Amino acid sequence: SETCNPPHLRTAEVIPAREELKEKCGELIITEDQMQTYMKSFLENIERGLGKDTNPDSIVKCFPTYVQNLPDGTESGKYLALDLGGSNFRVLMVEIANKAYTMDQKVFSISEEIMTGPGESLFDFIAECLADYTTEKGVSNDNLPLGFTFSFPLEQKGLKVGILERWTKGFNCDGVIGENVVQLLEDAITRRGDIQINVAAVVNDTTGTLMACAFKDPDCKIGLIVGTGTNGCYVEKQANAELFDEPDTGTGIVIINLESGAFGDDGALDFCRTQYDIDVDEASINPGRQLHEKMISGMYMGELVRLAAVRFTNEGIMFGGTLSDDFNTPHTFETKFVSEIESDPPGTFTKVKEICDSLGMTDATEQDHLDLKYLCQCFSTRAAVLVSCLITTLIRKMESPQTTVGIDGTLYKNHPHFHDIIMRTLPKLLEPDPYTCKVMLSEDGSGIGAALIAAVAAKGSEGGGE
Ligand code: GLC
Repeated sequence: SETCNPPHLRTAEVIPAREELKEKCGELIITEDQMQTYMKSFLENIERGLGKDTNPDSIVKCFPTYVQNLPDGTESGKYLALDLGGSNFRVLMVEIANKAYTMDQKVFSISEEIMTGPGESLFDFIAECLADYTTEKGVSNDNLPLGFTFSFPLEQKGLKVGILERWTKGFNCDGVIGENVVQLLEDAITRRGDIQINVAAVVNDTTGTLMACAFKDPDCKIGLIVGTGTNGCYVEKQANAELFDEPDTGTGIVIINLESGAFGDDGALDFCRTQYDIDVDEASINPGRQLHEKMISGMYMGELVRLAAVRFTNEGIMFGGTLSDDFNTPHTFETKFVSEIESDPPGTFTKVKEICDSLGMTDATEQDHLDLKYLCQCFSTRAAVLVSCLITTLIRKMESPQTTVGIDGTLYKNHPHFHDIIMRTLPKLLEPDPYTCKVMLSEDGSGIGAALIAAVAAKGSEGGGE
């Protein structure tokens, strides 16, 4: 029946999943009351994070980024960038001129051993990739300014000073928490002694995303990542950022890195978390932390779907009650499968069948395929609705009549309906306030965004990066 379909799916494809399954998935549908609860609580969390006295106990950290200028089109020069903390590690070279840019990059795969080993090995690895790339490009001794996109919670004490508060996502390297990661990078570069690089700024990926989007659209005031992790940043009045007691540079603004992934770590999201969320959290490398992120981002969504499918199979509702060993193994159901399954046009089962087959679920019926697709929709819709609530809270907080939201991240980019669900949900949430908003893909935040921040930094000191 209609009532068992998420309201946001009603105008899209309505999957004829088994009634019993739909009823049991009711808890995955964020109701309008829950959306209001979320927005009220998230706003309180932001205010606590911004306040000098309340910040130490705040879950949402609201770190001032020291970025106080949005790009104005006069930026130019040649820059390097590093991108650590997403689905790939990358070294990039960006050239900005005449309000446009070109970019070149090299992707390096980063092993789990490095992600969870000693910090020194991590930074040695980063410096090695940097040397490898800059040597290949013939710029290893040019002292090019570098924007270091380091996508973890950093307490910034300057554009070039970022103290790691804690690791998130799959990372957990010893000896980095409490340290300035720019210093650790510079030390690793010095240990090698073969390259000359000027680390000009350390940047969160959300800030890079905001800057990349603002380069094209001056209304951009929010940057979001929905990828391996999820987080947001926005443009705040300097006066409201109580922790940021720098002299006013004249712009009167500062970008705030919310670290919204941690929202809920004090129980604030318990009203909408489910047993699947609890199980995913308990099996993770950082239990009790990043609970908002774990309901939304790519590192966890596939596993959430798998846990639900396993539960319904064990209850005899799906797959004839029988699970293959693969399907019964944690993390075998990747988040990209969610995007692929939802990309099958209505009434077709090409991808979902292929994926079930690849996981050894070869006896799956057409109804099982439909049910699995329904589960994917429930979790991806829930994530997109929560992201919409987050955006709405920020627009109201800024009282911004017209806002562009720049979003990046593998999940947002690859999922066939994530953007549409946000676009359907936002106008309803913003009512009756007179706010309008645009949402756009803002690619390359870790490249062009980081370079723009290095460029803006250079304007205040020696001049452009040449
Ligand atoms: C995690 C990190 C945050 C980053 C986000 C997206 O939440 O803590 O800094 O922005 O992932 O990559």
